[in-house]
Amino acid sequence: MAQKFKQRIPDYTRRIEAKLDAVLPGSEENPVRLHQAMRYAIFNGGKRVRPLLVYATGECLGVPEALLDSPAAAIELIHAFSLVHDDLPAMDDDDLRRGVPTLHRKFDEATAILAADAMQPLAFAVLADIDGVAGDVRAELVKLVADACGSTGMTGGQSIDLGAEGCSLEAAELEHMFALKTGALIRASVMSASLLAESVPPEYSVALDGFGRAIGLAFQIRDDLLDVEGKTEEIGKTAGSDERMNKATYPALFGIAASRRRCDELLEEGLVHLDVLPEATALRWLARFIVDRGK
Ligand code: IPE
Ligand code: IPE
Ligand code: MG
Ligand code: MG
Ligand code: MG
Repeated sequence: MAQKFKQRIPDYTRRIEAKLDAVLPGSEENPVRLHQAMRYAIFNGGKRVRPLLVYATGECLGVPEALLDSPAAAIELIHAFSLVHDDLPAMDDDDLRRGVPTLHRKFDEATAILAADAMQPLAFAVLADIDGVAGDVRAELVKLVADACGSTGMTGGQSIDLGAEGCSLEAAELEHMFALKTGALIRASVMSASLLAESVPPEYSVALDGFGRAIGLAFQIRDDLLDVEGKTEEIGKTAGSDERMNKATYPALFGIAASRRRCDELLEEGLVHLDVLPEATALRWLARFIVDRGK
C-alpha cells in the first residue's frame, strides 16, 4: 500500500457515494418528495468518517473493497437518519447541517421524520442484499448494526442525551452516553469489516473493539469542542448550539483543557490497541484525523 491513506480518501468517497446513489430510490421515483428528501439528507457533503473506518479496517485485514461497500453504505444511512432526527425541533432544534439547511428546514418536519424512517430499513436491506457473503455472516452484520443503532446503542444514547440537558453528570455517566449515541456506530464501522475478513485472530478482534470504543468517545468529545471553538462556516453547523440547548457536553461539564486532554488520552489508548495489528497505518491516520479535525 504505497500511497498514503489520505490520498486514497477521494477514491473511497467516490466509491461510497456511488454505492449510496445505487441503493437510494431515484429522485423521480414516487413518492418523489420523500425520495428527494432522503437524497438531500445523504448527498450534502458529510465527511463519511464511518465508511472510511470500514474501508480502513478492511485494508488492515485484507478484505476485498467490494465486500465493504454494503456495510459502509448501511452505516452511513443509519448515521444520516440519526442526524435528521437529532436536528428536529423536538431534539436539538438545529437549522444548519453540513453547511446547508437541515432537512426539516429545507422540506418540512413530517417529511424529515419520514425520510429518516425510510433510511433506517434501507440500511438493513442493503446488508441483507450483500453479495458473495455467507448467510450467517450477513445475519451477524445485521445484528451488529441493529444493536449499534437500537435502544442500547445510538437511539438509547440520544434518549440519555435529551434527559441530561441541564444536568451535571459524572465523567463516567457522560462517557456512557457518548459511547452509546456516537461510539456505538463508530465501533460497528470497525467491527463490520472485521466480520467480513476471512479469519481474524481473537487478539485482533479485541484490539479493533478497543480501538473503536476509544475513538468513538474521542469523536464525540472533539465534536463537543468544535461546537464551542469552531466557526459556523467551518463546522457547517450553528456554533454554540450545545450551550443554547443547555446540553451535557464534555467542555461544559469539565472545561476545554480537560476535554482536550481526554481526547488525546483516548487517541493514545486507541493507537496502543492497534499495535497488535500488522498493518494499521490507515486506521492510525483516521484516528488522528478524528481527534485533530478543525484544529
Ligand atoms: C456528527 O457526525 C454527529 C456526531 C455523532 C457527533 P459527523 O461529524 O461524522 O457528521 P458528518 O457526517 O461529517 O456530517
Ligand atoms: C449527535 O450528537 C449524535 C447523534 C447520534 C446524531 P450531537 O447532537 O452533538 O451531533 P451534532 O453536533 O448535532 O452533529
Ligand atoms: Mg444531539
Ligand atoms: Mg445535535
Ligand atoms: Mg455536537
